[in-house]
Amino acid sequence: MLKKTKKPADAAPAGLRVLAFGRSVEGLSAGPLAAATIVPAGIDELAKVRASGCDLVLIDADAWEPQPLAAAIQALAATPKPPPVLLTGERLQTTVVRNLLRLERSDVLEAPFTDEQVTQAVEGLLEGPAAAPAAPSADSSRCWAVTGAVGGSGATTLAIEVATALAARSGKDKSVCLIDLNLADGAAAAYLGMQASMHLEDFGQTADRIDAAMLQAFVTPVSKQLDLLAGPRSPDAFDAITRDAVLRVLEVACECYEWVILDMPRHRRSWTLEALSGCDEVLVVSELTVPALLAARSLAEEIEEALGHEPTPKIILNRLSSRMFGPAPSMGEAERALGRKADAGVSSDWEAAAASANLGGPIAQHRPKSKIVQDVQKLVERLAAEPARKADIGKRAA
Ligand SMILES: Nc1ncnc2c1ncn2[C@@H]1O[C@H](COP(=O)(O)OP(=O)(O)O)[C@@H](O)[C@H]1O
Ligand SMILES: [Mg+2]
Repeated sequence: MLKKTKKPADAAPAGLRVLAFGRSVEGLSAGPLAAATIVPAGIDELAKVRASGCDLVLIDADAWEPQPLAAAIQALAATPKPPPVLLTGERLQTTVVRNLLRLERSDVLEAPFTDEQVTQAVEGLLEGPAAAPAAPSADSSRCWAVTGAVGGSGATTLAIEVATALAARSGKDKSVCLIDLNLADGAAAAYLGMQASMHLEDFGQTADRIDAAMLQAFVTPVSKQLDLLAGPRSPDAFDAITRDAVLRVLEVACECYEWVILDMPRHRRSWTLEALSGCDEVLVVSELTVPALLAARSLAEEIEEALGHEPTPKIILNRLSSRMFGPAPSMGEAERALGRKADAGVSSDWEAAAASANLGGPIAQHRPKSKIVQDVQKLVERLAAEPARKADIGKRAA
C-alpha cells in the first residue's frame, strides 16, 4: 500500500510519541517516522487517547470497519484538546472523514502515498491547524459551467452529456469531474443512478481544510474517467454550506481534474459570479419557447454585465425538433428574441432522455445513437478546440 521512495525524509522529531492504529501505519516506523516512538493500538483505545499520552495519532482506515472507526473518532473529537490525527486509506468512507473534520487538527492521505507526503502531513499537523497537502495538479484544467434559462430547459441533462463526451474524448482515468451545484435539490446523481455523497455543510468556517484527499472521499465514480460531486437532497443546503466551501471545492477540483463541469443553479448565490468568472465557458441552455428565449437573453446579459464579457456566455438551444407541437418560433424568430445568434443546438429526443434517466446513466451510454449524443459531441469538439482561458477559480478570487 505504501509506495517506497528512495530516501525516507525525517518527519518526526526524536522522541515523538505516536499511537498507530493499523499495520500499515505501524510500518511507517521504518520510513519517515523512524525517529519517533510508535506504539500499536486497537480501535477500542482510540476514544481514550489523551493529548498528554501521545503527540500524534495515525489511523489506517482500511484496517477497521467504518462504523466503529467513525464512532471512535467522534468520541475522540469530544475529548478536551485531542491530539492531531492523520488518517490514511484507500477506501475512505464519508462517515469517517466527516467525523475526522470535527477534530481541530487532522489530515487525510489517500493511499498510495509517498514518504514525502507523510512527512509533509505530519509536519503540518505538528505545526498547527490546517495544513493541506499539495494536490496533484492537472497541468491545464478547464472548467465549463452549464446553467438553465428556465427550469426544465435541460441544463442537468446537457451537463451530464458534456461531461460524458469529454470523458470519452480524454480517455484518461479521473479526467473529468461533474459538480452539481444545485446544493439543495440537485438531480445529477439521480439521473446517473448514483449516490450523492458530498457533505460540504461539515466544513463550517474551515473550508481551507478541503484538499485533494478529502475531495476524493466525497466523489462518486460514474466511470473510470468521470467522477461526480453531488450532495444529498437537503432543503437548507444553500444556507448550511459556506461560500468558501463551495469555492474551495471548485479550486481543488480544478487542481485535480483535467475537465470540471458545473451544473449551476439558476438563481444567483453568493458564490455564483466568482465561480463563473473562473470558468472557460458558460453555457446558457434554453428551449425554443418565447419565455425561455427571453429568459436566456436576460440571464446572458446579466452574466456579461457582471463578468465584463470574460467569459461571454454561449446560448445552447435544447430540444430542437423538426416536428414541433404547436406553433414554435423559427430559428430567425428565436434569434430575434435572444437578441443574438444561438451558439449551438441540441435535438429533441424524449425517448432517449427519458429512458436514460429512468435506467440511470448518460444518454451516451443507453442511447449512443441518439441525436442528442451527436449534437453534444459536436459542441464539445468545437468548444474543446478553442484555447483555454487562463482563469483559475479561487486564484482569481484572491
Ligand atoms: N434534448 C432533449 N430531448 C428530449 N428531452 C430532453 C432533452 N434535454 C432534456 N430533456 C428532458 O427535459 C427534462 C428536463 O431536463 P433537465 O436536464 O432536468 O432540465 P434542468 O436541469 O434545466 O431543469 C428531463 O425530463 C430531460 O430528460
Ligand atoms: Mg437541473
